[in-house]
Amino acid sequence: MSSFENKVKEALANPQNQGEIQDADAVGTVGSPECGDMLRMWLKFTEKDGKRVIDRASFQAFGCQTAIAVASIATQLLRGKTAEEAKHLSAQDLTGNLGPLPPMKIHCGQLVEGALRNALNNDATPSLAADPAAGSMIPTLAAALHSKPAGKLRIVPLD
Ligand code: FES
Repeated sequence: MSSFENKVKEALANPQNQGEIQDADAVGTVGSPECGDMLRMWLKFTEKDGKRVIDRASFQAFGCQTAIAVASIATQLLRGKTAEEAKHLSAQDLTGNLGPLPPMKIHCGQLVEGALRNALNNDATPSLAADPAAGSMIPTLAAALHSKPAGKLRIVPLD
Protein backbone atom coordinates (compact mmCIF):
# COMPACT_ATOMS: atom_id res chain seq x y z
CA MET A 1 0.00 0.00 0.00
CA SER A 2 1.40 3.43 -0.93
CA SER A 3 2.05 6.01 1.73
CA PHE A 4 -0.79 8.09 0.26
CA GLU A 5 -3.19 5.20 0.75
CA ASN A 6 -1.91 4.75 4.28
CA LYS A 7 -2.53 8.38 5.11
CA VAL A 8 -6.05 8.22 3.66
CA LYS A 9 -6.68 5.11 5.72
CA GLU A 10 -5.39 6.87 8.81
CA ALA A 11 -7.66 9.88 8.25
CA LEU A 12 -10.63 7.57 7.67
CA ALA A 13 -9.99 5.59 10.83
CA ASN A 14 -11.05 8.62 12.82
CA PRO A 15 -12.75 11.14 10.55
CA GLN A 16 -13.26 14.54 12.16
CA ASN A 17 -16.12 17.01 11.94
CA GLN A 18 -18.67 14.83 10.17
CA GLY A 19 -22.29 15.92 10.24
CA GLU A 20 -24.37 19.04 10.17
CA ILE A 21 -23.79 22.17 12.26
CA GLN A 22 -27.35 23.05 13.19
CA ASP A 23 -26.83 26.80 13.59
CA ALA A 24 -24.25 27.18 10.82
CA ASP A 25 -23.62 30.63 9.33
CA ALA A 26 -22.89 29.22 5.88
CA VAL A 27 -23.51 26.03 3.95
CA GLY A 28 -22.00 24.99 0.65
CA THR A 29 -22.96 22.01 -1.48
CA VAL A 30 -21.17 20.84 -4.60
CA GLY A 31 -21.15 17.82 -6.84
CA SER A 32 -18.83 16.31 -9.37
CA PRO A 33 -20.73 15.39 -12.54
CA GLU A 34 -17.80 13.17 -13.41
CA CYS A 35 -18.12 10.68 -10.57
CA GLY A 36 -21.48 11.70 -9.06
CA ASP A 37 -19.95 12.34 -5.66
CA MET A 38 -21.25 15.17 -3.50
CA LEU A 39 -20.07 17.11 -0.53
CA ARG A 40 -21.71 19.62 1.76
CA MET A 41 -19.78 21.85 4.14
CA TRP A 42 -21.06 23.88 7.08
CA LEU A 43 -19.22 26.85 8.61
CA LYS A 44 -19.81 28.49 11.96
CA PHE A 45 -18.04 31.75 12.69
CA THR A 46 -17.08 33.39 15.97
CA GLU A 47 -15.39 36.63 17.07
CA LYS A 48 -11.80 36.25 18.21
CA ASP A 49 -9.45 39.16 18.96
CA GLY A 50 -11.72 41.47 17.01
CA LYS A 51 -11.74 39.21 13.96
CA ARG A 52 -14.49 37.00 12.61
CA VAL A 53 -12.97 33.57 12.31
CA ILE A 54 -14.21 30.06 11.61
CA ASP A 55 -15.09 28.45 14.90
CA ARG A 56 -16.17 25.13 13.42
CA ALA A 57 -16.35 23.55 10.00
CA SER A 58 -18.08 20.27 9.31
CA PHE A 59 -19.01 18.17 6.31
CA GLN A 60 -21.20 15.42 5.01
CA ALA A 61 -20.13 13.46 1.98
CA PHE A 62 -21.58 11.11 -0.56
CA GLY A 63 -18.21 10.40 -1.97
CA CYS A 64 -15.14 8.38 -2.18
CA GLN A 65 -12.80 7.81 0.70
CA THR A 66 -10.30 10.39 -0.54
CA ALA A 67 -12.93 13.14 -0.48
CA ILE A 68 -13.89 12.16 3.06
CA ALA A 69 -10.24 12.08 4.19
CA VAL A 70 -9.55 15.50 2.62
CA ALA A 71 -12.73 16.98 4.11
CA SER A 72 -11.81 15.65 7.53
CA ILE A 73 -8.38 17.28 7.32
CA ALA A 74 -9.66 20.48 5.72
CA THR A 75 -12.33 21.09 8.36
CA GLN A 76 -9.60 20.90 11.01
CA LEU A 77 -7.33 23.27 9.07
CA LEU A 78 -10.13 25.82 8.71
CA ARG A 79 -10.51 26.47 12.43
CA GLY A 80 -9.38 29.96 13.38
CA LYS A 81 -9.17 31.19 9.77
CA THR A 82 -10.98 34.30 8.58
CA ALA A 83 -13.24 33.97 5.54
CA GLU A 84 -10.62 35.89 3.57
CA GLU A 85 -7.87 33.46 4.58
CA ALA A 86 -10.10 30.46 3.86
CA LYS A 87 -10.88 31.86 0.40
CA HIS A 88 -7.24 31.64 -0.55
CA LEU A 89 -6.80 27.98 0.36
CA SER A 90 -6.41 25.74 -2.66
CA ALA A 91 -7.43 22.11 -2.89
CA GLN A 92 -3.78 21.27 -2.33
CA ASP A 93 -3.61 23.39 0.84
CA LEU A 94 -6.73 21.65 2.13
CA THR A 95 -5.25 18.17 1.77
CA GLY A 96 -2.76 18.97 4.55
CA ASN A 97 -0.48 16.08 5.38
CA LEU A 98 -2.09 13.81 2.78
CA GLY A 99 0.27 15.51 0.35
CA PRO A 100 -0.36 15.90 -3.37
CA LEU A 101 -3.30 13.82 -4.55
CA PRO A 102 -2.70 11.26 -7.30
CA PRO A 103 -4.00 12.42 -10.72
CA MET A 104 -7.12 10.25 -10.51
CA LYS A 105 -7.97 11.79 -7.13
CA ILE A 106 -7.37 15.47 -7.84
CA HIS A 107 -11.06 16.18 -8.31
CA CYS A 108 -11.75 14.71 -4.84
CA GLY A 109 -9.74 17.57 -3.34
CA GLN A 110 -11.46 20.01 -5.70
CA LEU A 111 -14.80 18.80 -4.39
CA VAL A 112 -13.79 19.86 -0.88
CA GLU A 113 -12.40 23.18 -2.13
CA GLY A 114 -15.60 23.74 -4.11
CA ALA A 115 -17.81 23.11 -1.08
CA LEU A 116 -15.73 25.56 0.97
CA ARG A 117 -15.94 28.25 -1.73
CA ASN A 118 -19.64 27.69 -2.15
CA ALA A 119 -20.14 28.02 1.61
CA LEU A 120 -18.05 31.20 1.73
CA ASN A 121 -20.10 32.66 -1.12
CA ASN A 122 -23.29 31.80 0.71
CA ASP A 123 -21.96 33.39 3.88
CA ALA A 124 -22.92 36.79 2.49
CA THR A 125 -26.55 35.68 2.18
CA PRO A 126 -28.29 37.48 5.04
CA SER A 127 -31.19 35.02 5.09
CA LEU A 128 -28.84 32.16 5.93
CA ALA A 129 -27.24 33.95 8.85
CA ALA A 130 -30.35 35.67 10.14
CA ASP A 131 -32.99 33.04 9.67
CA PRO A 132 -32.24 29.67 11.24
CA ALA A 133 -35.16 28.19 9.29
CA ALA A 134 -33.40 29.05 6.03
CA GLY A 135 -31.17 26.03 6.51
CA SER A 136 -34.12 23.72 6.08
CA MET A 137 -34.75 25.17 2.61
CA ILE A 138 -31.60 23.54 1.37
CA PRO A 139 -32.40 20.26 -0.37
CA THR A 140 -31.08 17.13 1.23
CA LEU A 141 -27.95 15.63 -0.22
CA ALA A 142 -29.99 12.76 -1.58
CA ALA A 143 -32.42 15.12 -3.34
CA ALA A 144 -29.57 17.17 -4.76
CA LEU A 145 -27.89 14.01 -5.98
CA HIS A 146 -30.80 13.30 -8.27
CA SER A 147 -30.76 16.75 -9.83
CA LYS A 148 -27.70 16.16 -11.97
CA PRO A 149 -26.09 19.40 -13.06
CA ALA A 150 -25.43 19.91 -16.74
CA GLY A 151 -22.28 21.12 -18.40
CA LYS A 152 -18.64 20.21 -18.41
CA LEU A 153 -17.56 21.86 -15.19
CA ARG A 154 -15.73 19.46 -12.95
CA ILE A 155 -17.22 20.70 -9.70
CA VAL A 156 -20.56 22.45 -9.66
CA PRO A 157 -22.54 24.20 -6.93
CA LEU A 158 -25.78 22.45 -6.07
CA ASP A 159 -27.88 24.92 -4.17
FE1 FES B 1 -15.19 11.54 -7.08
FE2 FES B 1 -13.38 11.08 -5.19
S1 FES B 1 -13.91 9.80 -6.86
S2 FES B 1 -14.83 12.69 -5.27
